[in-house]
Amino acid sequence: MTVGVGILGGGTVGGALAHRLLTERQAIADKAGLSLDLRYLAVRELGKPRPYAFPAGVLTDRPEDVVNDPSVNLVVELMGGMEPAGDLVLQALKSGKPVVTANKELVAARGKELIEAAEASGVSLLFEAAVGGAIPIIRPLSESLAGERISEVLGIVNGTTNYILTQMCDNGAPYSSALAKAQDLGYAEADPTADVSGGDAASKAAILASLSFGTWVGSEDVYREGIEDLLAIDISYAADLGYLPKLLAVASDTGEGVSVRVHTTLIPSDHPLATVRGSQNAVYVKGPDVDELLFAGPGAGGDPTATAVLGDIITSSRELLAGAQVPPRVRFGPGRLRAFEEVETSWYLRLEVMDKPGVLAQIAATIGGNAVSIESMVQLGRDDEATLLFITHPSPEADHRKAIAALGELDVVRQVAAAIRVLPPT
Ligand SMILES: NC(=O)c1ccc[n+]([C@@H]2O[C@H](COP(=O)([O-])OP(=O)(O)OC[C@H]3O[C@@H](n4cnc5c(N)ncnc54)[C@H](OP(=O)(O)O)[C@@H]3O)[C@@H](O)[C@H]2O)c1
Repeated sequence: MTVGVGILGGGTVGGALAHRLLTERQAIADKAGLSLDLRYLAVRELGKPRPYAFPAGVLTDRPEDVVNDPSVNLVVELMGGMEPAGDLVLQALKSGKPVVTANKELVAARGKELIEAAEASGVSLLFEAAVGGAIPIIRPLSESLAGERISEVLGIVNGTTNYILTQMCDNGAPYSSALAKAQDLGYAEADPTADVSGGDAASKAAILASLSFGTWVGSEDVYREGIEDLLAIDISYAADLGYLPKLLAVASDTGEGVSVRVHTTLIPSDHPLATVRGSQNAVYVKGPDVDELLFAGPGAGGDPTATAVLGDIITSSRELLAGAQVPPRVRFGPGRLRAFEEVETSWYLRLEVMDKPGVLAQIAATIGGNAVSIESMVQLGRDDEATLLFITHPSPEADHRKAIAALGELDVVRQVAAAIRVLPPT
């Protein structure tokens, strides 16, 4: 009952996983009832210093040999990026080897093709670690909740941005110094673009939406904005209004189509996701029968992520040892993707205006004239200028954009200083 495992990529996650396969082999065998034998660990640079030592013959710089070696029964892809990872995964699946991967970028971009290749070969493609690191969410969505009509999935799926936003909320720190601290502590890369611009979260949002609604959503279908423009002053005003900011992945199916987006969102401070702080991740699922579910925990890190990968390896190994064709886990039917402009959103608006009679009436008429209605308004006075804070009722994104553009044109409005989407209370 031994399964030969070949790992492509021996960095943060692959290194931790390989080390655990070697040092916890007996414990895994006792608990899972099967023996996992690490055959290869493919890296780019053989000479690079590594935190763990590996037996002779395990390290290789020839990933294609790992896929092709007959002693490798199961391939684990932890290289990251699109290529050569994508073609190696496809090659493994086509040759009848199950694959486990943590590569959200690859799954979001080529998941449908890869899942179909796995189905055609009767093997699994598992990717629990691709969203939320150690948090079990892929299997709950594709198996445990397969019978639920999920209406909404909200995710804090990027630890770097959640750490930065938590710093900004706790200490009133500006974005730039919160980012610098995240970089010092290793939570953010030297080039943080993929995280702070919402690109990483968009890949994960696409995967969550595809599994939740059974309609394939690619990363290119996800509307995205990052957190770079958020100002400390708006976090402070929003806190007074009972909200705090999160980079939220929002996937919803209102019956008029599936909409998937990633942007800074003010959430009510008593929402379950408001408790998710620092680099933690969480996914909140809503459905008519389960009501609300919250999955939370460490969204990254070598050992936490390796645990999720190891779980997939054990599942896949059990299927291999059972010897049967693996039935498809998910089905993607035709479905309509809803244009973001049609989606109903609410906004927080901060306007810097002249403080004189009639200003408020002009502003209210401009907002209302674009089919947006005001839920609440606060005026903060200052000599001949005033700051106005509005929260709007949900109405189509397109109407809000028109209203914001029209406000910017008014002579009495010095500046539309901030416009941030708000999650309406549920
Ligand atoms: N890090 C996390 O906390 C985390 C969490 C969830 C998911 N993930 C996902 O897990 C995957 C791996 O992430 P990671 O953080 O472990 O990445 P990483 O530390 O950058 O490691 C990548 C590994 O792949 C090897 N590699 C890259 N290109 C290669 C090539 N062409 N041929 C052979 N080896 C190659 C590198 O070799 P060298 O060592 O020689 O450079 C390195 O060992 C990514 O898809 C990531 O998105 C990571």
